[in-house]
Amino acid sequence: MSFIADRLLRIKPSATIFIANKAMALKAEGKDVIGLAQGEPDFDTPQNIKDAAKRAIDRGETKYTQVDGTPALKEAVCGKFKRENGLDYKPNQITVGTGGKQVLFNALLATVNQGDEVIVPAPYWVSYPDIVLLADGTPVPVACPQNNGFKLRPEDLDAAITQKTKWLILNSPANPTGAAYTAAELRALADVLLRHPQVYILADDIYEHLVYDDFVFTSIAQVEPKLFSRTLTLNGVSKAYCMTGWRIGYAGGPVELIKAMAALQSQSTTNASSISQAAAVEALNGPQDFIAPNAAIFRERRDLVVSLLNRCKGIHCPLPEGAFYVYPSCAGAIGRRAPDGKVIETDTDFCTYLLEAGNVAVVPGTAFGLAPHFRISYATSAEELREACARIAKACDALQ
Ligand SMILES: Cc1ncc(COP(=O)(O)O)c(C=O)c1O
Repeated sequence: MSFIADRLLRIKPSATIFIANKAMALKAEGKDVIGLAQGEPDFDTPQNIKDAAKRAIDRGETKYTQVDGTPALKEAVCGKFKRENGLDYKPNQITVGTGGKQVLFNALLATVNQGDEVIVPAPYWVSYPDIVLLADGTPVPVACPQNNGFKLRPEDLDAAITQKTKWLILNSPANPTGAAYTAAELRALADVLLRHPQVYILADDIYEHLVYDDFVFTSIAQVEPKLFSRTLTLNGVSKAYCMTGWRIGYAGGPVELIKAMAALQSQSTTNASSISQAAAVEALNGPQDFIAPNAAIFRERRDLVVSLLNRCKGIHCPLPEGAFYVYPSCAGAIGRRAPDGKVIETDTDFCTYLLEAGNVAVVPGTAFGLAPHFRISYATSAEELREACARIAKACDALQ
């Protein structure tokens, strides 16, 4: 009998964290590795947010708080949803957890029974299917290839829905592709969902503020108010406010679900850090003027990386609408031979080759459910991105 529970055997450690750690370990050994695996902004948290945290400490806000968020933070979240998304949530429809990841975890653990199906458009963020598996559910990946702009088509959604479908997870802008849905595309998906009242929608909007070229971000409950009562609108401060380490995520949704999630959280982590919650209030209520300049920097880096990668032999890189990832195809490198004689058979082989021969750490598409691709996070300096792309180009040129 195994000491480790069966449910753990169903999942694997996050591939992105694994590769980021591998790159850090190689760096610690003195290797000149450029890590493009980690999904976090390289900008520091704005000073007013840090100051708010310091003030919270000085006020003695160092104790337990309400389980699923302080009243001040729930108010701030309601204000954000109203102001930015036109969504009218009341504080009892809001939950706050230790990162968007915990909120997602709570939602799935609180609702998914054995055999329940969760539709996960692929490529997907690595955590979605594994959390579904932990919750005894069945992830149902639906292929969204590059020629569909990496987006779920209404007919493919319709075909994937069964009586067992509990959730559709919709992530826009998406990790790992950067693809984002227009209001018209969401409208078409909403039309399908209206015909299937048993399906709840988990709208993961965490990259909302990182959209480029005049793209207008929209959330599905905003497009179709009839879906509001069965949508969990998930967001957080990690990406837009450069607060990955503070661990604050939040969501708005139906009261019954929000209560169930709080019950689960009360038996796991209790509340998110009191100090981080105070900082998140300042993030949401304070000045928002740094967001657009940060997004402009990301857009420049996106353009740089896309143009440099498209010059690499065997790589094709589409231009994404948002987030800070590109998801190029490496189909042109598959079947080629590296200088050490090894044949590149998969995108995992390709990424291993880039790490070993080029000292660049990127994540293979296999981890995200659509191969042969790889994900580059361009949340690092233009200088580092230029050097990384030069190394990738050299490694691609060396393939026979
Ligand atoms: C698509 C997506 N959703 C949610 C999250 C959760 O972020 P956090 O737990 O830092 O709020 C991430 C983080 O990488 C993400 O990429």
